[in-house]
Amino acid sequence: MTDPKEGYIVIIGSGLIGRSWAMVFASGGFQVRLYDIIKEQVTAALEDIRKQMDELTKSGMLRGSLNADQQISLLSGSSDLKTALEGAIFIQECVPENLELKLKIFSDLDAHVNNTAIISSSTSCLSPSKIFNGLRHVKNCIVAHPVNPPYYVPLVELVPHPQTDPITVEKTYHLMKKIGQSPVKLMKETDGFVLNRLQYAVISEAWRLVQDEVITPRDVDIVMSEGLGMRYAFLGPLETAHLNAEGFKSYCERYGESIQRVLKNSGPVSNFSSDAMIQTIFVYLQALWDEQPDKSDQLTERREWRDACLSHLAKLKKEMKKE
Ligand SMILES: NC(=O)c1ccc[n+]([C@@H]2O[C@H](COP(=O)([O-])OP(=O)(O)OC[C@H]3O[C@@H](n4cnc5c(N)ncnc54)[C@H](O)[C@@H]3O)[C@@H](O)[C@H]2O)c1
Repeated sequence: MTDPKEGYIVIIGSGLIGRSWAMVFASGGFQVRLYDIIKEQVTAALEDIRKQMDELTKSGMLRGSLNADQQISLLSGSSDLKTALEGAIFIQECVPENLELKLKIFSDLDAHVNNTAIISSSTSCLSPSKIFNGLRHVKNCIVAHPVNPPYYVPLVELVPHPQTDPITVEKTYHLMKKIGQSPVKLMKETDGFVLNRLQYAVISEAWRLVQDEVITPRDVDIVMSEGLGMRYAFLGPLETAHLNAEGFKSYCERYGESIQRVLKNSGPVSNFSSDAMIQTIFVYLQALWDEQPDKSDQLTERREWRDACLSHLAKLKKEMKKE
């Protein structure tokens, strides 16, 4: 457990991602302060975290070496920004994905932080140049983009502003490692960062294959969950290729031409506002849900099931690393 004298992790915005970050930092033994513009959100977040930690204790999936009570004791809340920032060493911003709102928040943070605190944003798609430009503390600013839900999916993309101090990147990297996340460093910013660029390519191709009536929506999901996803939970695409031939060079020699041919003939970017396609996919998802015995709240139930799967997978991955 860190001593309060060592400083606080401050979470700005106590919604879905803010709560998850708070739990991850507390599991690493850090003192965490949650701030939100809506006072009730902070209270609701602390109550929700307590409930989640109790559930995690029951299922044996609580992260870290501290028990739930110890982790809860590390959490506090505030609805006053200046008070929340007292003693801050690392600030993780988690307000909604809205450029104007982010700019306002970063300008407020810039005015109140000391010269050593790191200001980190959870933004999914806004580039560091857009949100940190002109800030007095720009060298201490970085994007630390988590994957939902960060408690179960450890990847964090670290994206620097061109003026971010390399020490800020290193400190953030080591902090993320310390709390059990898996950070990766982008050497420069790129639209969509890396995870979303890869994810968008997959969604786009899934959409195209359904639209061209090559495969049903149900079967395209099965291709990922029962096919590619099985390997990708453990190996990236480059190592997968390496193992699928006699090394990566041999993979390129064998399949390079076919890959280029398929990609060249793939066609233009899909139109994601096609009502007909959205309806087709909706019908599939509805049918999937109709097969479930309990139909009370589709999204909540399915998210809980997803999180349970991910926490088991995280455990398995840990075990496999030890072998
Ligand atoms: N949800 C995801 O899947 C996901 C994944 C990765 C990153 N992100 C990013 O995380 C950020 C937060 O997303 P979320 O899903 O947690 O949003 P959310 O809507 O669940 O929570 C946002 C919180 O911010 C608070 N807020 C609004 N204005 C504020 C202000 N001025 N000061 C302080 N708090 C304020 C709201 O009251 C709310 O509690 C976004 O930038 C999003 O792109 C989200």
